[in-house]
Amino acid sequence: MKVAILISGSGSNMVALAQSMTGDHPARPCLVLSNDPDAGGLAKARAMGIPTAAVDHRPFKGDRAAFEAALLEPLQAAQPDLVALAGFMRVLTADFVRGLEGRMLNIHPSLLPKYKGLNTHARAIAAGDTEAGCTVHKVTAALDDGPILGQARVPVLPDDTPEQLAARVLPMEHQLYPLVLRRLAMGDRRPVSLP
Ligand code: GRF
Repeated sequence: MKVAILISGSGSNMVALAQSMTGDHPARPCLVLSNDPDAGGLAKARAMGIPTAAVDHRPFKGDRAAFEAALLEPLQAAQPDLVALAGFMRVLTADFVRGLEGRMLNIHPSLLPKYKGLNTHARAIAAGDTEAGCTVHKVTAALDDGPILGQARVPVLPDDTPEQLAARVLPMEHQLYPLVLRRLAMGDRRPVSLP
């Protein structure tokens, strides 16, 4: 099973996923693709021997369809069985998602369906939540809304800042995403729940 991983930044989730795809794991990373040619994750992928590509979204100035057509070129060339969005910060159009229907995953830093969109940790703190976390879900046309494949929970502490909560959630993302991918690759349809 070939997995393409889309990133926008440091790619810590990409590293966790790529490092998990070894030994008897039936999946292997086939491409790391970014919308930012300077994304730190691209260098990490190259150091791991994974093919990389970048399609800078800025020249397309909001023409999502044109950007996505350019993004599809390296993606289709890699012929992935699965596409994992990992810290990918561009909203994808319904057409793009439909083209990959059912074969695209995303990790979102909240306990969906709560806090779709951005600033999830600040919102959880502002709401007085006592727990937060992250969710891996199948990507559908609606933002952060597809079937949930796994979740990881962490406590929210009384004096948490969003940065402190993010630092508690991120390591759980690095555990959750590889676990969900492994179950998917093994045909195990049980949802993952951590801890
Ligand atoms: C992190 O905020 C994470 O919660 C979200 O994307 C951001 C960057 O992740 N999934 P990464 O280090 O680029 O994987």
